[in-house]
Amino acid sequence: MMQPYKHEPFTDFSVEDNRQAYFQALKTVEGYLGQDYPLVIDGEKITTEEKIISYNPANKEEVIGRVSKANKELAEKAMQAAVEAFKTWKRTKAEVRADVLFKAATIIRRRKHEFSALMTKEAGKPWREADADTAEAIDFLEYYGRQMLSLKDGVPVQSRSNEFNRYHYIPLGVGIIISPWNFPFAIMAGTTVAAIVSGNTVLLKPASTTPIIAAKFVEVMEEAGLPKGVLNFVPGSGAEVGDYLVDHKDTRFISFTGSRDVGLRIFERSSKLSPGQIWMKRLIAEMGGKDTIVVDSEADLELAAQSIVAGAFGFSGQKCSACSRAVIVEDVYDQVLNRVVELTNQLTVGNPAEQGNFLGPVIDNNAYKKILEYIEIGKQEGKLKTGGIGDDSKGYFVQPTVFADLTPTSRIMQEEIFGPVVGFTKAKDFTEAIEIANNTEYGLTGAVITNNREHLEQAREDFHVGNLYFNRSCTGAIVGYQPFGGFNMSGTDSKAGGPDYLLLHMQAKTTSEMY
Ligand code: NAD
Ligand code: ALA
Repeated sequence: MMQPYKHEPFTDFSVEDNRQAYFQALKTVEGYLGQDYPLVIDGEKITTEEKIISYNPANKEEVIGRVSKANKELAEKAMQAAVEAFKTWKRTKAEVRADVLFKAATIIRRRKHEFSALMTKEAGKPWREADADTAEAIDFLEYYGRQMLSLKDGVPVQSRSNEFNRYHYIPLGVGIIISPWNFPFAIMAGTTVAAIVSGNTVLLKPASTTPIIAAKFVEVMEEAGLPKGVLNFVPGSGAEVGDYLVDHKDTRFISFTGSRDVGLRIFERSSKLSPGQIWMKRLIAEMGGKDTIVVDSEADLELAAQSIVAGAFGFSGQKCSACSRAVIVEDVYDQVLNRVVELTNQLTVGNPAEQGNFLGPVIDNNAYKKILEYIEIGKQEGKLKTGGIGDDSKGYFVQPTVFADLTPTSRIMQEEIFGPVVGFTKAKDFTEAIEIANNTEYGLTGAVITNNREHLEQAREDFHVGNLYFNRSCTGAIVGYQPFGGFNMSGTDSKAGGPDYLLLHMQAKTTSEMY
């Protein structure tokens, strides 16, 4: 009998055997650095002249691998493969589809540290962050497999006498999966398998900074028995391949996770009809965040400071869920700020392959330059309390940075920086703190640290974010426990890892028979 879903435990790296296993995994990955990876279209491995080269952001000289790059012609070939494969995959039993996911989870679990170590190299993820990313990928496979089994017979509806009514879900068609680099395994794999297990066929376009982990995942899915043509792997330029596929008449839906601007571009383009198109494309878009931790005057201030530091600087703040704003009620403002600065000064920045470093590099030169530009803006807008320094001599390292005394409408408090930068602002009371927390165009995550029950209930009503946390940080949603997605410019609130996520990839059909 199938075990109930339970999330994959994180690895305890204080255990020597686990530490050694991670070092071994890093060696395994080092053994295959620099290799070439093909596109996969209809099961065929296709190598192109032009490549996307993936580098280690902690060591600019180190090539992680080279991935063949799709152009419009290859994207078209992949689309036709997916259209053809849909004819049979949509009729494949849900149990068979789910089994592919369970087998893939088993394969990944066996090689868990290798996948994490690859992310340490390719995305600059420190051990704990990489371990959590792999665990989340496994969770998505296990959770969505079970969700599909629970949906396969549809939902009961009423029937009158002489009538036999049924209500069930059928897949949509060909989906385009466009994924970001910051959860290069979990989000890439989760969005792909949700579409596949629901009976759709897909084209996967991974982020160009992290294509190798995606190529490895495609290998796993093949090993797990996924028929050819169901998952087509088309790394390529967003502007060329992305636009082409978003516009394509045969695209039935797009599952995008990434920035606000690209999300809005896809929203607009996908709403236009292409010649021959006979449906309105469905769009799942999970976008940026500008996430706030509110600290009340009646609160555990140590917990508040720890939560801000963990939320702001985990994976160098490169999470849509990261705490980039701290809104503190005025009578505890100095105390929380000073403690955050103290804790921040204890964090180490360096090579993520070494276990102790809390922060690794940021993803690439563009991110590095953008974050340093924001740091200059922050110096104008507020007071730099710590950090503010970058070093790109070997990799793209930025010190964890705290700005104080910002106005709630300052750029540091409004714009997604996507780096290790947190801004502080003061509120006169809890109600004003919640008003400030709500004053961005985003609405992804938020947290409230308070011991006041009425304030918790006030926040539950008024703090307008998709994922609201009490007395903890605002990052680290777990599949099946805290379904994840945001409001407003954070996207379509398509709750990844939630009970209704698969339905976004399906359409409901009613049949009614008289007898
Ligand atoms: P990005 O928008 O730059 O890229 C995301 C993906 O879109 C990449 O695969 C990219 O190649 C592709 N792309 C670029 N232009 C395109 C186009 N014209 N058509 C189609 N695809 C195109 O984002 P990123 O830098 O990879 O990721 C960071 C962003 O993602 C942040 O804004 C972060 O908040 C957001 N994010 C959101 C969530 C969430 O669940 N809400 C999760 C993770 C990341
Ligand atoms: N799901 C990730 C988190 O909650 C983005 O931090």
